Amino acid sequence: MADRFNNIIVTGGAGFIGSNFVHWVLDNQPGTRVTVLDALTYAGNRENVADCDPERMTFVHGDICDADLVGRLFADADACVHFAAESHNDNSIADPTPFLRTNVEGTFTLLQAARDHGVRFHHISTDEVYGDLALDDPARFTEETPYRPSSPYSSTKAASDMLVRAWHRTYGVPATISNCSNNYGPYQHIEKFIPRQITNILCGARPKLYGDGLNVRDWIHTEDHSSAVWAILTEGRLGETYLIGADGERNNIDVLRAILAAMGCGPDDFDWVRDRPGHDRRYAIDSAKLRRELGWQPKHTDFAEGLADTIAWYAANEDWWRPAKEATEAKYRAQGQ
Ligand code: NAD
Ligand code: DAU
Repeated sequence: MADRFNNIIVTGGAGFIGSNFVHWVLDNQPGTRVTVLDALTYAGNRENVADCDPERMTFVHGDICDADLVGRLFADADACVHFAAESHNDNSIADPTPFLRTNVEGTFTLLQAARDHGVRFHHISTDEVYGDLALDDPARFTEETPYRPSSPYSSTKAASDMLVRAWHRTYGVPATISNCSNNYGPYQHIEKFIPRQITNILCGARPKLYGDGLNVRDWIHTEDHSSAVWAILTEGRLGETYLIGADGERNNIDVLRAILAAMGCGPDDFDWVRDRPGHDRRYAIDSAKLRRELGWQPKHTDFAEGLADTIAWYAANEDWWRPAKEATEAKYRAQGQ
């Protein structure tokens, strides 16, 4: 079963999670080749997959909205794992336009090709499609939770999920969907919460905390996301959605203070900044279906250890993040964040 797929297209394979998945497949599935399709937006970095064996990984610089290119690649593939997206909430609030194009039109373009060529399709989505939970709500998101997206980003991801469901039901596209919680680990773009704070400290700047700092995110290491996606791709039931999470609920101020402590700073060495409009309060995933049906388990269950490794990676890889730092912070400064 594990080597069932000879050639998998990975869209967004030069991004944070997509590149982790590419490495995961090459390391763990010797019979599988990967074709990365990535437009190398501000968030994509060819370096993220530069060390992959060229016999087993082909890099295609292109856009998922390019139907001709997508059609040619799908003619030669037996599965597509679709990570490519505009992924950052703050950017979607500043300008939703590219989110509509890539997340909705891009997913549509891929689904049409999957339909034409009978390609197995796995769609990577987010827990944000379910909206948010109150801090004192004992509930967690399940596959049955109604969709209630809050931001331009999450509403375009919700739209893309709906397209996948419709293309499965109406056209029989062999598809699955996963909705995962917040990822952390090496190679995450420095616009995101954890790497932004780590690289601020490394630059001698103060970390920035939104609102009251009590918003909760459910953290999972990106390698655990990759192993879950492989389990769903190979063993998941077609037409089904699986939630991916590792029981990692933490509020932002606790995560920030863990970073500050690990990097030798005081607990109040940060700035409070303007809150994100529409800021979701809490995400929490119940991943019982994935664990029960597919036997998946996360390996990175020690958050302090995962965070220490992540901090060490950013400290050792300044060449990777430094070129993007000034532009990223300039964008935040313009938004009062
Ligand atoms: P990322 O922003 O780091 O990477 C996105 C990648 O997609 C980049 O390499 C970019 O160049 C590429 N891309 C963007 N537009 C494209 C286009 N039109 N054509 C081809 N390539 C394009 O994102 P990420 O954090 O790695 O997220 C990957 C996926 O996982 C997204 O679908 C996101 O919604 C989902 N997700 C992310 C998280 C998280 O915590 N980061 C959690 C759950 C789900
Ligand atoms: O839940 C899954 C989602 O997680 C993914 O779908 C998204 O692609 C991914 O970006 C992430 O979304 P968030 O908006 O939760 O992640 P972000 O890293 O932007 O912010 C995490 C929390 O930290 C959020 O409550 C906002 C807060 N924050 C963020 C930044 C960048 C701060 O307090 N300060 C900051 O500087």
